[in-house]
Amino acid sequence: MSDDSPPASTWRPLCHAIDVEVGVPVRVDREGLPALAVFHLEDGSFHVTSDVCTHGEASLSDGFVVGDEIECPWHSGRFCIRDGKATAAPAFEPIKVYPTRVVDGRVCIEVEPQASA
Ligand code: FES
Repeated sequence: MSDDSPPASTWRPLCHAIDVEVGVPVRVDREGLPALAVFHLEDGSFHVTSDVCTHGEASLSDGFVVGDEIECPWHSGRFCIRDGKATAAPAFEPIKVYPTRVVDGRVCIEVEPQASA
């Protein structure tokens, strides 16, 4: 068999799911990753986005969850937590969203494998 398949991605744990209350985002800082915001929505799903607003660099985890959107605490721009799209001005650029799943009670994101040193 040939081995030309792409390298497997890795799932990196960020925090315990039980520590993320519905509607209360949690900021996570991990070495080698940008600041992240972890969300637990009313439907039970978990999502991870960049924590930094694309308008003025506010910390979105200090903002307000409204349905499946996060409202920035500085100028009330909004983003869809599920896909990162900006949904209310003055935010226009999307935020990054990460493939997310819960493994053994921990919220994990899929990250690219490290380039071999
Ligand atoms: S810093 Fe977020 S809307 Fe301005």
